[in-house]
Amino acid sequence: MGSDDDALLADQMAYYRAGAAEYDRPYAEREDLQELLSAADGLPIAGDVLELACGTGQWTAMLAARAHSVTAIDAADEVLAIARARTASSSVQFIQADLFEWQPPRRYDTVFFAFWLSHVPPARLPDFWNTVAAAVAPGGRAIFIDDGPSVAAEEEVLADQPVPAALRRLDDGSQYRIVKVFHDVQTLTDDLTALGWSVRIRPVAGNFIGIAEPPATIG
Ligand SMILES: C[S@@+](CC[C@H](N)C(=O)[O-])C[C@H]1O[C@@H](n2cnc3c(N)ncnc32)[C@H](O)[C@@H]1O
Repeated sequence: MGSDDDALLADQMAYYRAGAAEYDRPYAEREDLQELLSAADGLPIAGDVLELACGTGQWTAMLAARAHSVTAIDAADEVLAIARARTASSSVQFIQADLFEWQPPRRYDTVFFAFWLSHVPPARLPDFWNTVAAAVAPGGRAIFIDDGPSVAAEEEVLADQPVPAALRRLDDGSQYRIVKVFHDVQTLTDDLTALGWSVRIRPVAGNFIGIAEPPATIG
């Protein structure tokens, strides 16, 4: 693609590949994540579900328990191996793919992504939302969960990067840049509405949960 953010996206990918074994630690330690997992109980997840950037599968079993099927995608084989081991369900299919290249081959009743939206560079968001819209079946919806602006205080936010970015460190001392956009709920609501989506986003413990129906004209 040759755009300004390619190097950052490669670094981001390298971070998740190298850090797969450390990824689950915050889920064991952080109360806000436990609260979020509980809040997901009430979400309208149904039918055939597409999960984007499933990571180690922290959300995949919850989806599988509510879904007819789950197709879970991530670019990193290392996290997919953990997700496969964690999610023993014949209704779940894991696929290794780069979400900046991948296009949905069919539509799904629910398209779910947790902690992925904040890793999409702002200039790529219109294309990303178009891809999501193309993946949602008539009557279906996108459901997304991510960090709100208050979480920025816990990150090493980097200045002078081509896109909003943060520095992440692994146990071995290695450092990686990641894309990190802390979406404000109102701005995100306005932006999605301007793209034709019908959207409700609610804050939960410093994070947010969004439920959105795509523009009827797509597809
Ligand atoms: C913050 S984690 C979220 C994982 C999981 N959804 C969760 O909430 O625990 C971001 C995930 O995005 C994946 N990822 C990074 N770049 C990607 C890309 N270009 N295409 C697909 N997945 C990617 C990483 O491997 C990682 O698993």
